[in-house]
Amino acid sequence: MLEIIHVSDTHFGPDRSLTIRAANACQRAEALVAGIRALPFVPDFIVHTGDVVNDPDPAAYALAAEVLANLPAPVYYAAGNHDEVPMMRDALAFGPLEPLVAESEDRLCYRIAGATGEKVEFFVMDGRVPPVEGPHGHLSDSQIAAVLDRITGTKPVAIFVHYPLTPIGSKWIDEHLLVTNGPEFQKALAAKAGGQLRGIFSGHLHRAITLFRDGILNSGVSSPACEFTSGPDDTSCEYIAGGPIPFNHLTFTASATMVKAYTLPFPAGS
Ligand SMILES: [Fe+2]
Repeated sequence: MLEIIHVSDTHFGPDRSLTIRAANACQRAEALVAGIRALPFVPDFIVHTGDVVNDPDPAAYALAAEVLANLPAPVYYAAGNHDEVPMMRDALAFGPLEPLVAESEDRLCYRIAGATGEKVEFFVMDGRVPPVEGPHGHLSDSQIAAVLDRITGTKPVAIFVHYPLTPIGSKWIDEHLLVTNGPEFQKALAAKAGGQLRGIFSGHLHRAITLFRDGILNSGVSSPACEFTSGPDDTSCEYIAGGPIPFNHLTFTASATMVKAYTLPFPAGS
């Protein structure tokens, strides 16, 4: 049995004053950390699926590191479209991991190692594209080859990546925010891992999602900074500020994958 906390899209600014649509990103991230610390169990690890900061800046990563150091378990990070990998490596503490691409590729692509990695094959992938190309993602051939090569087919497999892989049924999001080669990658994953593929876990949409495509669980956690709209015919994402603080509790057993969504009031306890 593994207990994991999935968080995403904290969007720290360079100091504690950054507000996103009148919501203070740092205070809301601190409430997220307090909520996880108040759980009646200690997770095996925590995964942050990216957009740690709002703009890549050493001061923002230093603030993120200071606040997230209070989390009660090792943390693993995926890179989001607002992140820069060298700054993440410099500022943030990661749990034990096995890199799957050379550091020179400027990619956070790795397998989670240590005792938990013995039970489930967890992979963290990096779908960033140059910002001028837009807010969608793309997974490089080298990452896909490395992950597929590392899957044994004998243990459960789960993927953490900032961007969702497959459409969610919302026009603008499906056109602009997904991994462009996500559906093909999910098919290749399913072919390699077979019935061991437990799910794809993502952020980016600032929107909790649970969907099954070709029988594969796709689970997304929202952002503590703000939520996005995702109507079927939306032509953009609108902000929903000031909502509750979200995180997901993931449980992996020999036969099941469980996702328990938390939405904590803000300020916590009010
Ligand atoms: Fe984000």
